[in-house]
Amino acid sequence: MQKYKFSCPVVKSKLKDYKSINQKLLKFFESCEGETVDIGQGYRINDLEFPDSFSKLDWRHCNNYDREWVKYFLPLLESELTHMIYSMSYQGIKFRGIWFQQYKKHNTHGWHTHAENFTGVYYVQLDKKSPNTEIVDPFNNRKIRRMDVEEGDLIFFPSFFIHRAPPLLNDTQKTIVSFNFNVTKPIESSYKNFYHADYFTRIRKRLGWR
Ligand SMILES: [Fe+2]
Repeated sequence: MQKYKFSCPVVKSKLKDYKSINQKLLKFFESCEGETVDIGQGYRINDLEFPDSFSKLDWRHCNNYDREWVKYFLPLLESELTHMIYSMSYQGIKFRGIWFQQYKKHNTHGWHTHAENFTGVYYVQLDKKSPNTEIVDPFNNRKIRRMDVEEGDLIFFPSFFIHRAPPLLNDTQKTIVSFNFNVTKPIESSYKNFYHADYFTRIRKRLGWR
């Protein structure tokens, strides 16, 4: 088996006015419908896998775009994401689920993947002592990268990347918004300028493809 290495970034940006956005989101999350998932009994720090547990989440409603917090937050998110995917030569976003997750002491989200093209995380509440999102390098699964993120940061990465929220071991609360999305098409001017037929011909030759 051979693996051809292509670069694929985890893209990060920060929302403007994130402090007031986060305050509003936390108020929405406090009063809105959600559920607790607590199957974290008996977890051990040395376990490689932890049962998932959350203090509150609304994942079951992830495709309901009429939720109050989603109506408030989605336009802000879409505006920044449009800018971010443009930098990767894509345009058009189709959201495929959005939900929030809150963690308290001993809560965790074990190694998992998502569906669709990309998965995003927006950090609403993240204490400096909280362990950040970890992602497995798809080219070398012994390499695990802890993301350098803080409150107000928005990141996205291909949905097949294996990632997790490590167990929260202190008394802080962590809150994130998670979402999946597809990009609908590449930016024509980008591939006309940079990815024209000659470029692909050269790449194919270099890789020995016909
Ligand atoms: Fe995830």
